[in-house]
Amino acid sequence: MSQYIGAIDLGTTSSRFIVFDRAGQIVSMAQKEHRQIYPQPGWVEHDPMEILHNVNEVTGAALAKAGLNAGDLAAIGITNQRETTVLWDKASSKPVHNALVWMDTRTDALVSSFAKFGGKDRFRAQTGLPLTTYFSGLKLRWLLDQLPEARTRAENGDLLFGTMDSWLIWHLTGGTRGGRHITDVTNASRTQLMNLATCKWDEDILEAFAIPKACLPQILPSSQIYGEVTTVPLRGTPIAGILGDQQAALVGQTCFVPGEAKNTYGTGSFLLMNTGRKIVPSQAGLLTTVAYQFGDEPPCYALEGSIAITGALVQWLRDNLNLIEKAADIEPLAASVEDNGGVYIVPAFSGLYAPYWKDDARGVIVGLTRYANRAHIARAALESAAFQVRDVVEAMQADSGIELKALRVDGGMVCNNLLMQFQSDMLAAPVVRPRITETTALGAAYAAGLAVGYWKNTDDLRANWSVDHTWSPIMPNEQRETYYRYWKRAVTRSFDWVE
Ligand code: G3P
Repeated sequence: MSQYIGAIDLGTTSSRFIVFDRAGQIVSMAQKEHRQIYPQPGWVEHDPMEILHNVNEVTGAALAKAGLNAGDLAAIGITNQRETTVLWDKASSKPVHNALVWMDTRTDALVSSFAKFGGKDRFRAQTGLPLTTYFSGLKLRWLLDQLPEARTRAENGDLLFGTMDSWLIWHLTGGTRGGRHITDVTNASRTQLMNLATCKWDEDILEAFAIPKACLPQILPSSQIYGEVTTVPLRGTPIAGILGDQQAALVGQTCFVPGEAKNTYGTGSFLLMNTGRKIVPSQAGLLTTVAYQFGDEPPCYALEGSIAITGALVQWLRDNLNLIEKAADIEPLAASVEDNGGVYIVPAFSGLYAPYWKDDARGVIVGLTRYANRAHIARAALESAAFQVRDVVEAMQADSGIELKALRVDGGMVCNNLLMQFQSDMLAAPVVRPRITETTALGAAYAAGLAVGYWKNTDDLRANWSVDHTWSPIMPNEQRETYYRYWKRAVTRSFDWVE
């Protein structure tokens, strides 16, 4: 049997290819950033062709680095930024518009018009999701409304819709020459078009949103052999795993038991708790979503707290304000002051997601005085990630009735000690970083490896998980609650901004 498993991770800011061994260790990796296109405030796009090109490049680079070729891989898994929407021409395999990125807010008018009848929770019972600009169904609807002849062509099956997984797999499996138009249950569960209980497209919602079924991909489990790659450098490798990136991180953290949870600090932050075979409806502003489905087994579900902006705020301080030169500079700058100096940042750049779901919120910096300096701003930016995570942990505990004993963390920001300590303080609970923090790609590799028998079962995967570092709370209770009270006040200042 081949020695390794590969994973393609199509993130919000970059594409990566990582090769793992049986112990879940990284053998080789390459990564390339792609452009973020901002046509107007609130709109965010990606060029799907650029991402395809980058995938090709990083795959070749990672294989070359380790002196490997496709034959050394037992299979590959694919994981992706969820909800980001592509519509392409079946005959040419070219996109008909840039991809609309998950955080794009252009569907706000559509959201309001649908919420007018039945409110924001109109489709929650079927989909687990509130009406908001986040999900892909209304992004697709926007494209069908805006692009000339798009609706008729979609009805005829000449235009195909997909999230990034579908877009990539179409191309990897041959495109116009027999490409597969598929997605997995986790990605489909983020379209707001899939019925959570049946894991099929929901006819009533398709009708309500006026989405033609002919343009939608086939929904499949997250772990099975879907086909073989037909293009170099991976020609002949089975594609055997597909997971939305946050669900992939849940798998990578081996949270297979109901009640186990992880938080990933990326562009945004996403806290998912496994709820097993149970679909747990949220009363507290979380999402109910599919966690994974391995082969013929029934799907497992999760409760999710989605936060749109955490790491992206650090990038914003770097790119838009030139406050720091590189992302890693934020920690020493924030640590150069004792506290936030009374400054709070609510990064509601795309409205506020869980648990608030306020599309019309926008970012605010509050508590400014003549005393505040750039270090306080840096500190407030880091703290905003921790406060937002506490918001969703509280909602999670209210919805699930389970007290979080410890939080497993991963993603780019977990090397930031100051943030991790503050996170533990804000939650009054331990924060645990595993040895392998590339859990997103690892989760996709696990899904693929299970399908081809590279790993036998989830016990094999659990054996790969071990603790690297644990942060324990040290902040006095009173201080913790004062910080959090101010945070909650700051949040209310961001509401009702857009008219
Ligand atoms: O739902 C959006 C999420 O999938 C994006 O993840 O890691 O690319 O920020 P990330």
